[in-house]
Amino acid sequence: MNLTLYIWRQKDRHSPGKMVRYEVKDVNPDMSFLELLDVLNQQLIERGEEPVAFDHDCREGICGSCGMMINGQAHGPQRATTACQLHMRHFKDGDTIYVEPWRARAFPVIKDLVVDRSAFDRIIAAGGYISVSTGGAPDANSIPVPKTNADLAMDAAACIGCGACVAACPNASAMLFTAAKVAHLALLPQGQPERTRRVLNMVQQMDKEGFGGCTNIGECSAACPKEISLDFIAMLNRELIRATASRQDD
Ligand code: SF4
Ligand code: FES
Repeated sequence: MNLTLYIWRQKDRHSPGKMVRYEVKDVNPDMSFLELLDVLNQQLIERGEEPVAFDHDCREGICGSCGMMINGQAHGPQRATTACQLHMRHFKDGDTIYVEPWRARAFPVIKDLVVDRSAFDRIIAAGGYISVSTGGAPDANSIPVPKTNADLAMDAAACIGCGACVAACPNASAMLFTAAKVAHLALLPQGQPERTRRVLNMVQQMDKEGFGGCTNIGECSAACPKEISLDFIAMLNRELIRATASRQDD
C-alpha cells in the first residue's frame, strides 16, 4: 500500500514546529506503525535528510515509551493498542495519516514526536513506591490478599505510563495515571504504611507539574492502551478525601 504522511517536525523545544508531507510506497500491511516510521527514516537517511525522532523501546506494548497522536487519536485508531502494536493493516492504500506528538503543557516537545514525560517520573518519585522490604516470593505469598483486591491491584498495575491519557484529555489531566499508581499500592497490604502520605504527595506533585484538573470526560480511559478504568479516578478521589481527613485528625 502507498501512504501519504504528514508528520510534525520540530528541531528542539525552543524551535517552532510544522507538519511535513512524506510519501511512503510499498508499505507492508503486517508492519507496525513504528516499522513504517523506520522505513521512512531509512529513506530520509539515504536522501541525506534528518530522520524523524520518535520514542520506542520494547515494541511489545509493555514499556510505555512509544506514543504519538495518529489522525488525532492517542496511539491511533485501534482500541487498547499502543502505537508499536498498531499494524498498518488497519489503514487503507492511499490513506493520508497525520502524526503528531502528545500535546500537553506538562509534556514539552523535545524533538519531532518525542516529548519530555519526566513529569510522570516526578509523580512516582513523590510517593508511588513502598519503602518496606517485601522479601522474596515465598514471603509475599505468605501475606493473604483478598482476591478482589488482588485483581483490582493487578488491573491498576497494568498502567505502562505512556501518557496517552494526558494527551487525550481536553484538560491534559494526569488523573488516570496518578489514580492507577495510587490505587495499585493502596489495595495491597504492603502499601498501607505510606498510604496517606502517598496520595497527598502524588496529587500535590501532579498539580505542581501543570497537568489540568479532571472533569470526568472519560477520554483518558477510552484512549488508554491498557484500558485503565475510570473507577480508579473515583478511588483516587476517595483516597484523597480519606487522607486529607486523617491528616486533619493528626
Ligand atoms: S493510565 Fe493508560 S494511558 Fe495513562 S499512562 Fe497509564 S497506560 Fe498510559
Ligand atoms: S515501544 Fe514499548 S509500549 Fe510501545
